[in-house]
Amino acid sequence: MRAAQYDRYGGPDVIHLAEAPTPAARSGRILVAVHGSSVNPVEARVRSGAFRFVTGSKFPKNVGMDFAGEIVSLGDGVSGWTVGDRVWGFTGGLPLGRIGAAAELLSVKPKWISRAATSIDLVTAGGMPMVGSTAIIALRHHAKLVAGERLLVRGASGGVGSVAVQLGVALGARVTATASATNLDFVRSLGATEAFDYRTTRPSDLSAFDVILDLSGTQVPDYHRLLARGGRMVTTAVNNVGFFLASQLLGPRRVRAFTAMPRTRYFADLAELVDSGRIVPVVGGVHPLAETAAAHAALESGTRGKQIIDVRA
Ligand SMILES: NC(=O)c1ccc[n+]([C@@H]2O[C@H](COP(=O)([O-])OP(=O)(O)OC[C@H]3O[C@@H](n4cnc5c(N)ncnc54)[C@H](OP(=O)(O)O)[C@@H]3O)[C@@H](O)[C@H]2O)c1
Repeated sequence: MRAAQYDRYGGPDVIHLAEAPTPAARSGRILVAVHGSSVNPVEARVRSGAFRFVTGSKFPKNVGMDFAGEIVSLGDGVSGWTVGDRVWGFTGGLPLGRIGAAAELLSVKPKWISRAATSIDLVTAGGMPMVGSTAIIALRHHAKLVAGERLLVRGASGGVGSVAVQLGVALGARVTATASATNLDFVRSLGATEAFDYRTTRPSDLSAFDVILDLSGTQVPDYHRLLARGGRMVTTAVNNVGFFLASQLLGPRRVRAFTAMPRTRYFADLAELVDSGRIVPVVGGVHPLAETAAAHAALESGTRGKQIIDVRA
């Protein structure tokens, strides 16, 4: 089968189209014909060699952590699914483990998928599982955001942020967003009441928030001070580990970092949010499988929403 792979660490252009062994639906697994996949930032860091002490020197390496597609066969012991079902999900494990959704076929465990949203095509859907489930886990599960609260989303124009702004609005929060200057109107169009340029805005320029979702990992202590009484801060990208640990142990107003481990229920919640129109996918670009390198390059140069890989193009 065709798959995007790389044989050495480096820039986006190390990724190329390869002929990979065709997987079978092993016992307890589901084989999916992938229509769409996407690029997530951590994958670009793995590809660059930033984690080579963990990811080692065994090549080729696959790319793509999330996907949408159709079931083509079921392994022994799998129930509740039928060949032809439209599904979405992620490849399981961490990006440092076995990934490879940017390929024609993918073998997955049932707990990593749900039925895909029915209101969008399966290529667009391939960009939603990681960022959508991360936003849901952050705002609903960790921050427990409720209607009427003031939410700040830092990094609102990217993959997770563009979903989080919409989810915050759907949950009844008043959303403030930070993004770069050229993206301020864009994040307002997603539902943010206020938008600030993170390059020119100081934390002290902003008012208090009940929940802060930090997607940048910068100035975490300065933004943490903006939390109102009972406020919660959730971050996906902690650079200041010392502050984070101290806050977990000592602070009454905690900052919580997390690594999203999505499961069926989060993907199913996401499908419901998309099909009800409360979350609209934001597509920054669509690239044929053979041009997966361009999707990585586009992510690294900073884009709105998601860079999608059209696996069948
Ligand atoms: N822990 C987890 O499970 C998990 C899951 C998903 C993602 N993540 C992490 O979460 C982060 C965001 O992911 P993503 O997919 O949304 O990435 P992305 O699509 O690359 O978006 C990142 C956004 O951050 C903005 N940004 C950059 N520097 C900023 C700053 N100093 N202040 C505020 N905003 C800034 C950029 O805005 P402009 O383009 O407008 O400059 C960009 O839109 C990444 O670090 C990713 O690895 C973690």
